[in-house]
This record gives sequence, C-alpha cells and structure tokens, in this order.
Amino acid sequence: MQHVANLSELRAKEVHAAAIEVAELSHVYLGRDGKVPALEDISLTVGAGRFVVIVGPSGCGKTSLLMMMAGLRRPTSGTILCAGRPIDVPDPDRVGVVFQEASLFPWLTALENIEFPLSIRHAPRLERRRRAEAMLNLVGLAGFGARYPHELSGGMKQRVSIARGLVQDPPVLLMDEPFAALDEQTRMTMGHELLRIWSQTNKTVVFVTHSLTEAVYLADEVLVMSPRPGRIIDRAEVTLPRPRTYEMMATDVFGRLRERIWQKIRKVT
Ligand SMILES: Nc1ncnc2c1ncn2[C@@H]1O[C@H](COP(=O)(O)OP(=O)(O)OP(=O)(O)O)[C@@H](O)[C@H]1O
Ligand SMILES: [Mg+2]
Repeated sequence: MQHVANLSELRAKEVHAAAIEVAELSHVYLGRDGKVPALEDISLTVGAGRFVVIVGPSGCGKTSLLMMMAGLRRPTSGTILCAGRPIDVPDPDRVGVVFQEASLFPWLTALENIEFPLSIRHAPRLERRRRAEAMLNLVGLAGFGARYPHELSGGMKQRVSIARGLVQDPPVLLMDEPFAALDEQTRMTMGHELLRIWSQTNKTVVFVTHSLTEAVYLADEVLVMSPRPGRIIDRAEVTLPRPRTYEMMATDVFGRLRERIWQKIRKVT
C-alpha cells in the first residue's frame, strides 16, 4: 500500500511539474479581409516555478498565445493545460494576467484596484483588505494604498497592476510586455523587483518582451518565435546563476545568449 501511495504522490508531482502545457496549437483569426493565420503548431511546456520569456517580431502572435493561456481566447486547434487541466475560460485562481498598460480603474485607489479581483468574487471585506495590503507591501508600495492612479508614477502603476495579478495567489502569472511603457532605468528596476517577487512567491511566470536584454536578464529559458504565423523557432536556456545582478549583463555568457537570440530573429524577419 505504501508503495502505491508513493507512486500516486509521484504522479501528482509529475503532473504538477508542468505548470502549462501547450500541444499542437494553431490559431486563425477571421479578419475583415479573410483568414489571418496567427499561430502555427505551437507545442511547449512551462515547468512549475520557471521563468519563461517569449520574444519574437511584432505581430507574430505573442499576445494571442498569452490570451489563450489565460483562457481569454480559444485556439482554432490544439490544447492548453494549466496545472494539468484545460483552461477554456479565465480562472484567476490558476492564472493571473498583467498587461502592457497598467489598466487600473481611475476611480479606485491603489488598494481598491488590488482588491478588485477579490471583490468580484465576494471575498469577505477584512480578508480582501488584508490580502491587498500584503500585496502592496510585496511590490514595495507600502503607504501608497490610498493614492489614486493619477497620483502614481508609471512604475508605481505597473507595481499596482502586478499586485492585482498576484492577489488571488495564482500559481501562474502571465505578463504581456508589462514594462514596455516605462523608461529604461525604471524598467531595469522593475525587472529586478519582479525577480525578487518571483523568488519569494514560487510562481511560474510567462513573460513577453521585445527587449532581448530584459529577456536574458529575467529568464530561465527564452522562447523565440517566427514572424506570423508564429512558431517556436528556438529555445535558449539561460544558465546564468541566480540571483541575477546588473553586472552579469557585461559578461560573455550574457552577450553570447543575447546575440544568439538576435541572430535567430534577424534571420527570419
Ligand atoms: N481579433 C483579431 N482579428 C483579426 N486579426 C487579429 C486579431 N487579433 C490579432 N490579430 C492578428 O494576429 C496577429 C498576431 O497578433 P498579436 O497581437 O498576437 O501579435 P503580437 O506578437 O502580440 O504583436 P506585438 O509584438 O506587436 O504586440 C497579428 O497579425 C494581428 O494583426
Ligand atoms: Mg502583443
């Protein structure tokens, strides 16, 4: 019996070892001028706790793929499993999403914006407040909870947005160019902060960016996509140790990885 119990425990771990599994996914949009093949034969596995970055030319289908992983859009064909189960509709308990624009409600304070996903699920008021405040602390905004979005800088708004994505404690966080609107300095700081949060929370992160430096700095693994219809054309394992430091950007390993990814993208565009 003991043996059987161990076996099923092992199986459960195996299932959990993959946070996201995409198999033979293709997508065709029905646009105004006919069919737009957006994604073609995408298969990938994101291990639990991994930080995976997706890069690729504009319009190659990165946002579409993320929307499908979030259950916000159905692929034309293929399957997506999140924690071993299909994700057909948004499920904030399994997957949190952070978009490029902070998209906060201007009439709600920072704290109320973070609480929002909990209030639509009718979580008790005190519990909501407690969790939202913990998230505010986690993203380094303690004391700013009563501010409205227009009273916050771009970087602070993005922090609120990340806190909102994390408030339901989903095991997976999908981020679509979350720092694209920020200046370079703030962007670097935010990347570093995100790695701190990631290491403290054991989340699985799938992160889309156009910045190859950001990609290598953040990732365990970088997936490179071809132009539309997007396919995965390269997987680069980032072997740099953690925690990552700014000094690593000047190393040969960093430079070689960045160059390899750039050459892949350049060849196909
Ligand atoms: N609702 C839609 N109807 C028709 N075509 C669409 C729709 N949404 C996206 N597309 C097309 O699908 C392709 C992929 O779009 P998507 O937004 O996923 O690309 P992306 O890689 O995120 O681009 P970017 O890097 O510019 O954000 C594009 O050619 C786009 O025009
Ligand atoms: Mg996009």
